[in-house]
Amino acid sequence: MSIGNEWQQELIFPPAPEFTAQANAGDASIYATAADDYEAFWASWADRLEWFTPYNTVLEWNPPHAKWFLGGTLNVSYNCVDRHLSTHRRDKTAIVFEGEPGDTRSLTYAELSVEVNRFANVLKKLGINKGDRVTLYMPMTPEAAIAMLACTRVGAVHSVVFGGFSAESLRERSNDSGAKLIITADGYWRRGHIVPLKKTTDEAVAGCPTVENVIVLQRIGVDAGITMVEGRDHWWHDLVAGVSDECPAEPMDAEDPLFILYTSGSTGKPKGILHTTAGYLTGVTATTNYVFDIKDTDLYWCTADVGWITGHSYVVYGPLANGATVFMYEGSPDWGRTVGEGAGAAPGPNRARLWDIIERHKVTILYTAPTLIRSCMKWGEVYPQKHDISSLRLLGSVGEPINPEAWLWYHEFIGGKNCPIVDTWWQTETGAIMISPLPGITNTKPGSATKPFPGICAEIVDEQGNPVKDGQKGILVIRKPWPSMLRTLWGNDERYKQVYWSKFEGLYFPGDGAVRDDDGDFWLLGRVDDIMLVAGHNISTMEMESSLVEHAAVAEAAVIGKSHEIKGQAPVAFVIIREGYGPAAGDTEAADKLRAELKEFVAHKLGAICRPDDIILSAELPKTRSGKIMRRLLRDVAEGRVMGDTTTLADPAVVASLREKYSSDES
Ligand code: WTA
Repeated sequence: MSIGNEWQQELIFPPAPEFTAQANAGDASIYATAADDYEAFWASWADRLEWFTPYNTVLEWNPPHAKWFLGGTLNVSYNCVDRHLSTHRRDKTAIVFEGEPGDTRSLTYAELSVEVNRFANVLKKLGINKGDRVTLYMPMTPEAAIAMLACTRVGAVHSVVFGGFSAESLRERSNDSGAKLIITADGYWRRGHIVPLKKTTDEAVAGCPTVENVIVLQRIGVDAGITMVEGRDHWWHDLVAGVSDECPAEPMDAEDPLFILYTSGSTGKPKGILHTTAGYLTGVTATTNYVFDIKDTDLYWCTADVGWITGHSYVVYGPLANGATVFMYEGSPDWGRTVGEGAGAAPGPNRARLWDIIERHKVTILYTAPTLIRSCMKWGEVYPQKHDISSLRLLGSVGEPINPEAWLWYHEFIGGKNCPIVDTWWQTETGAIMISPLPGITNTKPGSATKPFPGICAEIVDEQGNPVKDGQKGILVIRKPWPSMLRTLWGNDERYKQVYWSKFEGLYFPGDGAVRDDDGDFWLLGRVDDIMLVAGHNISTMEMESSLVEHAAVAEAAVIGKSHEIKGQAPVAFVIIREGYGPAAGDTEAADKLRAELKEFVAHKLGAICRPDDIILSAELPKTRSGKIMRRLLRDVAEGRVMGDTTTLADPAVVASLREKYSSDES
């Protein structure tokens, strides 16, 4: 992602005094207090949780391994549900759901408790015990949250796989974690189509020796056309029928594994990020409270899918731990029926769906991704202007750098110029928000994630690990441990050390470039490794390359992320075709067919979000004399830039021919 030098921009938006007056974090001295004693700061948040046994040590730090809140026991579902039941929140709405076809449902904390307890008992009945892994491949319905919470209740470690991933990805992830159970649905609605989760699960489970059972939520009904395998597959509604709604919450050690979430790795195979119980819950509780300024009166909507970390931390755990009311939406933001069209109107394309939802439900906090903001911007402000979205009081952004134009549009047309915007930088690995404004305290600037969260020690260094001066671009690092940091990679501690802790001695390396301005505000500049940010999703160029070369026609492939107006980056693949497989010279029809086939091949292997935007069939790739593919040059070709230095190339003529090809092949 190139945001050029826009970080030098000087537009500043101070917090409104009325906002500060009511803010959860309204006093800037918390930064100094936390910096003075970060352990004490985090402990003060841990103390807001309910513990079965108190911890005795805040932190044990043996770099790169951290243990937080040692000696304590607690349970995450207890903290997200049970403890609210003895308060005014018992009958408060916990989750409001709207499906893509327009069906709605809501659950109070008391009702959520019944569902979680019942489902926890179901898990036990199927032999799921403390420490067992459970894969979730679920739609964005309340049952996703219920299943996650039920896992934490019995001490099972969940691994949620995004519903847009392929059978192969699901299989790989289930096998890596050794899951005993997969929880899925017959399907879900997206853009009026059924996404066939159960059919994909069937394909995956065929190669999952550890999976004993599959639980299937009925979301679609007969139209899903699924078959149930006797003895292996069970309907969710059959299993919960008649089951007790009391299941004691398992006391978990502070450092017991809570969940695994797979994320793309720059060397191909996904990494199983492991989060543990107390530290993670402390981190998401604190950040939800301070960054989103969450209150009992809010209706909070984070548009992320539960398949991503944002869905874990800021749809489920952070908001529920704070006793908030969370809104969940199943489908696509540009599909559905609008109010006033009549109940019988067939759902169809609807670019006002988000704003229609906000108006009807009176959403107060919206947390979404720059790619969606840019789409809305392209569609035009007429859509939000058709709706009364004045219930909004705070806006958030996550997933990739937000360009100032999108920030300003979000501010003006969605926030009505009076909602603070929190641009939050963090990662699957960090568990919780790391760099973000605190809306009652921080001056915001379009395109800057501003300040490290209190207690987070972020810095910018050069390639040697030495701090750079303000205003100089460098590499972001985190100097001190934080409670919600990943503990390791599931089953691969060596890779954990190598990926995050080997670049700089004793410093956590997130893989992002950044610059800090004279006010101490951080501007994130995109990845410095081989990960692309496609519509905010991390995609590994290596993983795509490996899948392309599995196609019989492909001899070699190089994938790069090309700048894209809406998605931030879009994957482009340069492919060398094997002798005998290539289309005859000039046969554009055969070339088009092969390109389409390769796109489909990758989408099928990895999931639709990994479908390449362009495929360039080439005879050669630009390589250095030592044989390394020069991805920088490929990016230049794809983005139509004049080439820089090509003197290290083994054969400079390759680039010229690629440029020519690119302009003729681009689809
Ligand atoms: C990028 C998502 C700039 C970054 C929570 C990071 C961002 C990666 C921002 C993690 C932001 C996320 N500004 N870049 N506000 N938020 N990123 O693991 O490159 O899906 O390393 O976690 O997204 O993506 P992940």
